[in-house]
Amino acid sequence: MISAKIFLRNSRSVRAAFFVSMFIVMGLALERAGVAQTSTRGPQPMQPAEQVFKNIQVLNGTHAADLQGTMSFIASSLGVDCDYCHVQAFEDDHSKPKLRAREMILMVRRINQETFHGENVVNCFTCHQG
Ligand code: HEC
Ligand code: HEC
Repeated sequence: MISAKIFLRNSRSVRAAFFVSMFIVMGLALERAGVAQTSTRGPQPMQPAEQVFKNIQVLNGTHAADLQGTMSFIASSLGVDCDYCHVQAFEDDHSKPKLRAREMILMVRRINQETFHGENVVNCFTCHQG
């Protein structure tokens, strides 16, 4: 935990990247980060993930176009590949790590809401560190 703090303090750009990623993971409106105006054109990218993908249970309301980035962030935070959680079709839930990851997403959201006044301070990397 201590090394994570130092790491984050020492690298502003890495820290900024984490913030952007966690806005996505937490399902906060990207508009608040000032990103949406420049990165979204037309209806397709604006579509909520749950309308495009088959089995979205916790990332509801995030933009479908951001799902890939969120997944890459999660995978690199854990130091694993996609198939660590996705063994068959991506929507398939017969995967313990995938179910665990859903619980972790909810936990991280709760920690940030209850302890950090809604700021995205804690994310997957904070604990897992690749
Ligand atoms: C640590 C576990 C984990 C890893 C690693 C991971 N995912 Fe996911 N993925 C999830 C979870 C959990 C969901 C469901 C999210 C929800 O319910 O809101 C999901 C959902 C998805 C979906 C939507 C499937 C559907 O139709 O419902 C796609 C596509 C996807 N992941 C692609 C990827 C790709 C590509 C990678 C590698 C870059 C990846 N995932 C890595 C946990 C993981
Ligand atoms: C506050 C610390 C913390 C944060 C933040 C955190 N995790 Fe975890 N996570 C843990 C711990 C501790 C374990 C091991 C628990 C155990 O052994 O049962 C774990 C276990 C897991 C596992 C199961 C590992 C396995 O081998 O089956 C997955 C998947 C996972 N976390 C995904 C995530 C994702 C995705 C995020 C970000 C959304 C996240 N975690 C954020 C602490 C954290």
